[in-house]
Order: sequence, then C-alpha cells, then structure tokens
Amino acid sequence: MTSIVVKGGNLLKGTIKISGSKNAALPCLAASILTNEVVVLEKVPIIGDTKNMIEIMRLMNIKVNVNDNTLMIKSDRPDFKIPSRFSKLLRGSTLLLGSLLARRGRVELYGYGGCPIGLRPIDLHLYAFKALGAKIEQKKDSIEIIANQGLKGAEIFFNFPSVGATENAIMAACVAKGETILKNVALEPEVLDLVKMLQSMGVIIKVNSRRREIKIIGTKEISGVKHELIPDRIEAGTYAVASVIAGSKVVLEDLNVMHLRGVVRKLLEIGAEVSIKGKSNLQICQAKNPLKSLNIVTKPYPGFPTDLQPQFVTLFTQAHGTSQIFETIYENRFLHIPELCKMGAKIDVLDRKIIIEGPTTLHGSEVYARDIRGGVALVLAGLVAKGSTIINNAEVIMRGYEKIETKLRGVGAEIEVIK
Ligand code: UD1
Repeated sequence: MTSIVVKGGNLLKGTIKISGSKNAALPCLAASILTNEVVVLEKVPIIGDTKNMIEIMRLMNIKVNVNDNTLMIKSDRPDFKIPSRFSKLLRGSTLLLGSLLARRGRVELYGYGGCPIGLRPIDLHLYAFKALGAKIEQKKDSIEIIANQGLKGAEIFFNFPSVGATENAIMAACVAKGETILKNVALEPEVLDLVKMLQSMGVIIKVNSRRREIKIIGTKEISGVKHELIPDRIEAGTYAVASVIAGSKVVLEDLNVMHLRGVVRKLLEIGAEVSIKGKSNLQICQAKNPLKSLNIVTKPYPGFPTDLQPQFVTLFTQAHGTSQIFETIYENRFLHIPELCKMGAKIDVLDRKIIIEGPTTLHGSEVYARDIRGGVALVLAGLVAKGSTIINNAEVIMRGYEKIETKLRGVGAEIEVIK
C-alpha cells in the first residue's frame, strides 16, 4: 500500500504547471486504434490510469512507445478481446469498445473497473452500438459486441449526456456507413478534444453545442495524426482549491482558463482572490476576508463538475457558514465524507445533498482514500490540518494526479509518498 503523508500549516507559494488531461488521454488513446497509421499523442499525463490503459493496449498487440509525455501508437491488427487483468482496474477501458468495434467489427470485454462512486452501468454505450447495427451478447464473464455486416449511421438520442457513451458512439460512428446524428450529447472539453483529434484524422464531425448535437459522417479512410491533449481542468481546479485554502500566492500555469470559467466564478463568489492571467494562467492570492459559504449543484458541462465536488467539500470546511453541494451525477460519491469527519469536519449527507458547516479546524489523522477525487480532497484537508495526516491507499490518487507530491512540494507543502 502507498500512503501520502502531509504536514499541515505551510503557506503555499510559487508556480504549479498543469498536466495534460487524464479524461482526454483515455478516449484519445482509444481513438488511436481507429487507424493502422502512426498516432502521436502529446502531453499525456503519466499516471496510474494511463499506465493501465497502455498495458491493456500492449496486451492487445498494439505498439505503444512512451517518451516522457509523448506517446507513439501503432495498431496493425489489434486483438478484439480486452484483457481483464487491467480492464478491471479502469473504467476508461470501456472506451476501447467503440474504437475496436469500428476497427475489428467485434469486441469482447471481460469486466471493467473504476472508482466506486456509483453503479456506473454502460447501458447507454450499448444502446448506441445497437442503434448503429451491432448485436450485443451478454455472456457469463463477458460482453461481446459484434457488427458482422458493419455499422450503419443512425440517429441516437441519449436520455442522459453521458461522457463515455458520447465518446464511444462518436468513435464507432467514424466508420459507420452514412451519417450519424447524436442528440443530447455530453459536451465536456474532453469530448471536444476527442472530436478535434478525429477531425484531424480525416473524419467529418460537426458539433452543434447549442442543440447538444454531434453529426458524424463515417469513412473508411482514417489517417494517423499528431495530437496534443488539452490541459487537465480537474487537476487545475484541485490545485486552485489548495491555493485558496493554503496559499499566499500561487500561479497555476498551462491550463485552459475557458474550461474553468464556471469554477473560477464559484471561487470568486466565496471571496477567493483569483485573477485570470491571459488564456492559460490563474493567480490565486490569500483571501483578504474570510471565505463565505455557498450552494453548488453538480451538472454536466458547462455546469459545475462532479469531479471537483470532493475538493470543494474540503474547501467549504474552511468557509464561514453552511454550504451545500447537491450531487446530481453519481449516487455514491460521498466516500470522502466520513474520512473528512475523522479530521474534524462537520458534514452531513442527506440523500444526495452534502451539508458542510464551517469553518472548522481540521486535525491530522489517519484516513483512507477510496477514489481519485475523494482521495485528493483528503490531501487538500491535510494541507490545512493541524499536525500530520496519513492518507492510506494513495495509489488511487496516483491514478489521476501526475507527480502530485513534487508539484505540491514545489510550492512549499510538506508532503511525502511512502510505500
Ligand atoms: C467521465 C469521467 C469522470 C467524470 C464523469 C462525469 C472519464 C474517463 N471519466 O466518466 O471522471 O466523473 O465523466 O463528468 O472521462 N451512466 C448510466 N449509463 C451509462 C453511462 C453512464 O447510467 O451507460 C450514468 C453513470 O452511472 C453516472 C452518470 O451517468 O451516474 C455520468 O456518467 P458518465 O458521464 O458516463 O461518466 P463517465 O464517462 O463514466
């Protein structure tokens, strides 16, 4: 087991560079299988989730060359079976369904993993494949999806704008005969990054954000590409919270300010001193006045991201008054709450509403990380807690955060990873 030990109380000062996006890396890695030409992906964060995805792909006869944060991928004839050894560790492995179905006409998945934050079914993914003409066979240990006659363009309406289902449907539709229109799609920046990559690979894709629609014209000719991933807005949001609660002056570099507009707005509303510096930097200074409480509802993009809910729970333990976060996306994204309460936080959960009383003095404790974002919320709490906090099972945090200890140490935090 890996643990992170944080000694609280240091005032953070300096610069943190934001890595490429985890949630863009996974679908873009999956999309690289659509062609037998070389695909180069730049700014890939080297974290647990991408390492596992690379291992899965290598086991499937796909060549993946890693050089720092640049990956070179060549898929001459990828296997259609997604091996269970790694897929059970990674929800992102389900993103291989669409691209393998497109490339091989069939795909078999033996279970999939991910954070235990809700049921997380894949019914919407399967519904889209079916609409495109594939047959789904639910076997004892696996799901097989087959399109013997090839895929055919269709009009598909999602009853919820699922990120993964939208990405899978786009990738499958890239080779479908004719035109596919996806309605009520997810418009997260990571979905649009995948679209940009596919457009550069020669697929005609049109996005109508206002109508939440994406139109894809299938093609047999998908070429190689060199694509740079977007910055990780969730990593940026996480360090923004760290800076608000524990910083004197921190600059976050290399992010995309546009992707964080809603989050910055919330930080300003609670009284944080955040200034936007150009298109890619944020400066956060120690607040002059006490932080204020606020109510937030998590929603699909451009709404407030569920992936920043746990970090904001920690933030609200330091704000004055009662804050509430209504979690609409996941039914079980509350596993960080009892751990934060062990540290002295005053938090209640009523159905899907999290009620946080602040400000509270947090004290260092031994706590357990159960999922990526909930885990990092404990690290943030450790930064302001009195004494040392030991966060066990920190591997889950490393699944999503590149060099977290180096980045936080770089701005003055006392943080250590121990195995
Ligand atoms: C992606 C992100 C994840 C983020 C989430 C929501 C990646 C690798 N992960 O996950 O970090 O928290 O978007 O922004 O990009 N659902 C169904 N049926 C389906 C699919 C989803 O009921 O077939 C439900 C899920 O259980 C969940 C909600 O829809 O309650 C959102 O899921 P979805 O948008 O699909 O998230 P992911 O793509 O899994």
